[in-house]
Amino acid sequence: MKIVHVENYDEMSMRAARTVFNKIVESERVVLGLATGSTPEKMYDYLVDMLNKNKVDLSHVYTINLDEYVGLGNDHPQSYHQYMNRIFFDRVPIPKDHTFIPHGDAPDLEAEVERYEQVIEELGGVDLQVLGIGRNGHIAFNEPGTPFDSRTHVVDLAETTVNDNARFFDTVEEVPRQAITMGLDTIMSAKSILLLVSGDEKEEALACMIDCEVSEELPATILQRHHDVTVIADDEALE
Ligand code: F6R
Repeated sequence: MKIVHVENYDEMSMRAARTVFNKIVESERVVLGLATGSTPEKMYDYLVDMLNKNKVDLSHVYTINLDEYVGLGNDHPQSYHQYMNRIFFDRVPIPKDHTFIPHGDAPDLEAEVERYEQVIEELGGVDLQVLGIGRNGHIAFNEPGTPFDSRTHVVDLAETTVNDNARFFDTVEEVPRQAITMGLDTIMSAKSILLLVSGDEKEEALACMIDCEVSEELPATILQRHHDVTVIADDEALE
């Protein structure tokens, strides 16, 4: 595991954007695994600028997102569909049919989960997976206790996750209690992983991810077993 220690959120975002940008321009075809949440917001801003300034053609780029809330339609403002449109897809010339996010409002969630795994397989797997980490050590929405061999599945969100994500909603009651998420084994199948960590509220989870014994109680520890993980973390997260 390679740890890149940066000063602050801005530098983390710039470095991450450069890594994704380089991957895009150096590849003939690339599948990016994408994350949502606060952590990668500025990375997307920098990436949009880099892509547009350099007039990069994106017809060879495919994206597959980690997760989506159950019960939110694709046009709900707090859905990850809308997050991705707002922050990335609507700002760059990526073909919309190259972008994939689970459908949280699918009538048959089990069928949706299987469909999503099939999409990943048909794309040929993820080349570069961008990740954030939850305060409780979750990656994607794989909460503590999720089996390491999990593939895409429906998950009950931990109370800490519901509370942490309440900031995006008007009230905590509006936060969905379930999500569809790529599993830990799905994430581990990515060829390379870029984990972004910023802020002192992530300090404990990050320290344990690096040093604790690998355990399903802290899902992110599984990354210790991946052969190509780069962590970009700022001062506050590493202190
Ligand atoms: C987002 C995701 C989550 C977040 C994590 C951190 O797609 O899968 O694992 O990366 O909850 O969220 P933020 O960045 O908002 O602190």
